[in-house]
Amino acid sequence: MKDIKVRPFTSGEERVVASIHNAAFKGWIEALGKEYNYRYIKPEDVSAWIKENHAHRESLWIAEVDGKAVGYAHCRLELVHGKRDFNELLFVHTDRDMGQSKIAVIPPYRRLGVAKTLIQKIVEHFEDLGADLVVVVTYSDNNAAEELLRRLGFVHKDFFYYKPYSETKPWRCDTVYAELNLSEPIKHVRLNLDVNVRPAREEDAEDIAGIFRKSAPWSPFGPKASSEQVLSYLKSSDYEIILVAEYKGKVVGVMDFNGNNYRLGIPGVLPEYRKRGIGYTLFYHLLKNIRQKGFSKAIADTGLVLSDAIKMYSRFGFKIVRRQHHWIKILHNNPF
Ligand SMILES: CC(C)(COP(=O)(O)OP(=O)(O)OC[C@H]1O[C@@H](n2cnc3c(N)ncnc32)[C@H](O)[C@@H]1OP(=O)(O)O)[C@@H](O)C(=O)NCCC(=O)NCCS
Repeated sequence: MKDIKVRPFTSGEERVVASIHNAAFKGWIEALGKEYNYRYIKPEDVSAWIKENHAHRESLWIAEVDGKAVGYAHCRLELVHGKRDFNELLFVHTDRDMGQSKIAVIPPYRRLGVAKTLIQKIVEHFEDLGADLVVVVTYSDNNAAEELLRRLGFVHKDFFYYKPYSETKPWRCDTVYAELNLSEPIKHVRLNLDVNVRPAREEDAEDIAGIFRKSAPWSPFGPKASSEQVLSYLKSSDYEIILVAEYKGKVVGVMDFNGNNYRLGIPGVLPEYRKRGIGYTLFYHLLKNIRQKGFSKAIADTGLVLSDAIKMYSRFGFKIVRRQHHWIKILHNNPF
């Protein structure tokens, strides 16, 4: 019987954490790489997580077997509306890069109960602090993590509302990742010939901000998107292509493509101009443009609740390659 111990990380162990992370996530780093925002991390990255410690209430935990560090977990305690008592959450989705929770055990020490002990200990700790629930984010291609969570009593929820946050807007929602192979011709759809598709210009900034506000309030700019924010988006070197749809002289839609990671961005079409083929026409031209520039594929990631977007991707022949799943465990005060 191995002796498994869980303890907080101590300063000076950054290299150990980085090497556990890199060994544990190697398969995805090699197979999916930067397209899915995976990379080998360095001790400096771990230091940066710790630096953020106070602002984000983050903590790092180490699992030892017979005195050797073999696993780690990175947690974030997230406050909803800044209240302490009932509205506190242990949110284990801490990686802005790869999109799955950082819980890792090096391969030679797997299936010994290390991750199980690690998660149990952390959950007990945050339960004592009054956390309402634990959220872990995995991908559908991670059978080991999903089995582990099921075993620990977590439940997968496609999307969920968390009352202290909002009763009408989902607090978390699964994401679908779909890819289109651009070595094949773009599928034909019925185009709206009254739509003029052209590259976005700086003078479109206010119209585009309006599209972000009304059509994509979930975007990083949020429901208060400003022309200043849009100007920096238009000038950003990340976007290989940003196209707008003009309909009867008005800019009513916008879509983009980030050439660094093949990602499509669909702020979309103003709600009052939908169901007229404007979005499909804009999307068709976007894909044609990407293909002409020689890119081999395009990747879309979309919240499961955005069913119109998912329908559009499937109409153009995108194939779903993976899904991001939210697993939850309620500790106190069922918030649902
Ligand atoms: C997922 C991971 C952390 C599990 O670590 P572990 O220490 O091997 O897990 P445990 O030994 O505590 O497993 C506990 C239970 O989880 C389930 N489980 C774990 N790995 C499994 C696998 N490969 N297949 C099926 N079930 C598995 C089993 O029910 C297991 O109990 P059992 O061994 O008695 O059958 C580890 O595989 C890993 O580091 N993977 C790469 C990184 C990663 O995916 N992190 C999670 C991101 S959300």
